[in-house]
Amino acid sequence: MRSFVTSTLLASVALAAPAKRQNTYAPGSPPPGGPGHQTPAKLNVQVGDRPYYLVDDMDDGPLKEKLQSCSEGPFKPSDFVFSHRGAALQFPEHSMEGITAARRQGAGVIECDVAFTKDKQLVCRHAQCDLHTTTNILNQTDLASKCTTPFTPAADGKPATAKCCTSDITLAEFKTLCGKMDGFNPNGTTVEEYMDGTPYFRTDLYATCGTLMTHNEFIDKVDSWGLQFTPELKTPEVPMPFDGYTQEQYAQDLIDAYKERNIDPSRVWPQSFLPDDIFYWIDNEPDFGKQAVYLDERVDTPEGYANATASIPSLAERGVKVLAPAFFALTKLDEAGKIVPSEYALAAKKAGMDIVAWSFERSGWLNKGGDYYYQYVSKAINNDGDMYTVLDVLAQQVGIKAIFSDWPATVTYYANCFGLGK
Ligand SMILES: *[C@@H]1O[C@H](CO)[C@@H](O)[C@H](O)[C@H]1NC(C)=O
Ligand SMILES: *[C@@H]1O[C@H](CO)[C@@H](O)[C@H](O)[C@H]1NC(C)=O
Ligand SMILES: *[C@@H]1O[C@H](CO)[C@@H](O)[C@H](O)[C@H]1NC(C)=O
Repeated sequence: MRSFVTSTLLASVALAAPAKRQNTYAPGSPPPGGPGHQTPAKLNVQVGDRPYYLVDDMDDGPLKEKLQSCSEGPFKPSDFVFSHRGAALQFPEHSMEGITAARRQGAGVIECDVAFTKDKQLVCRHAQCDLHTTTNILNQTDLASKCTTPFTPAADGKPATAKCCTSDITLAEFKTLCGKMDGFNPNGTTVEEYMDGTPYFRTDLYATCGTLMTHNEFIDKVDSWGLQFTPELKTPEVPMPFDGYTQEQYAQDLIDAYKERNIDPSRVWPQSFLPDDIFYWIDNEPDFGKQAVYLDERVDTPEGYANATASIPSLAERGVKVLAPAFFALTKLDEAGKIVPSEYALAAKKAGMDIVAWSFERSGWLNKGGDYYYQYVSKAINNDGDMYTVLDVLAQQVGIKAIFSDWPATVTYYANCFGLGK
């Protein structure tokens, strides 16, 4: 098996296919995790203004009419909808406030990207070393000095630098931080300027002090809601073993947190970019491994894409059941300029793999053809409403099981309209 590059900041996560459990949202239905698990109260799902704005923006046609016909709901949670980093379009990522918003928006599966602290405790962060862009650590004098690379201001045409990792601090120290919107200003000459880098399409409105979560706190909260989990074992950014902590122990600790709580493995979709993590779970924790989600970033280069497509049958043979590439890799334009399933998507389907795509609502305005996520279909899109055109091909033609979204409501609206997920 080839080795793979590590996850990049751009390519965050991904996730897994929906589970087979019963819908647990109706009052009186059995709790999902068996005895000892809370039955969730009835939930009034709110999709907010954004899906209506996007539908209005669509070009006229049958898809727009269908989506308009669903305007008055009802909307309920769907496991077609994977919350990506919470509700990171508007809430600090991986915060309690973010996952609370994701639940309200109807996400059926909630994500925690898992990283470890200096004392080898698991916490939710998108990357082991993103504390300088996702928290206020640089503004905390006592902790800022513990960063791998303390802050250096921009000067003489050189950008500002800083690098702060979860493994630089203890769990107790981590819990004193505030979550902020992910971003930084490389031209910052002070910590305040550096921290002020929220992209134009996000907002600081809810970034007063996002509540950071440990992996255990995440599990307990999502369990109390009766929802499903998608923890991602983030690729370490320090050499492993770290102070005696091995990659295998790290992968095992992630699963043990669910076992200790008697969480049914059918509710857990562990993800990793590293094939060896996926194989570890398949071999050592088969109940969890059979839902392990292989985040496939080989597709990022044309040669890697071809190799990835060719390798799908052998991955299936090895026991991998869920593939998760960035969604651009699942579609292409045909000769007539129509958006259609890609070779990778067809190969995954042929091998009987489930597909979870990532990540919706990270791209800002699409009027100039979109970004990384829309690179193969940029000639076919010209407005934000085209997000639903792309999602429709992914859902109806590629047949994805689910998609991660930074704003779950956008996908919840579509999933409810088409009866997708449980
Ligand atoms: C933290 O932020 C406050 C308010 O912006 C500022 O006055 C203070 O100097 C900052 N502290 C550090 C260590 O940068
Ligand atoms: C940083 O400064 C460069 C050079 O002046 C400029 O091109 C760039 O837009 C600035 N970036 C930000 C985020 O302000
Ligand atoms: C693709 O596969 C070929 C043949 O196995 C290998 O030589 C090459 O390095 C691979 N390239 C990438 C980008 O994975």
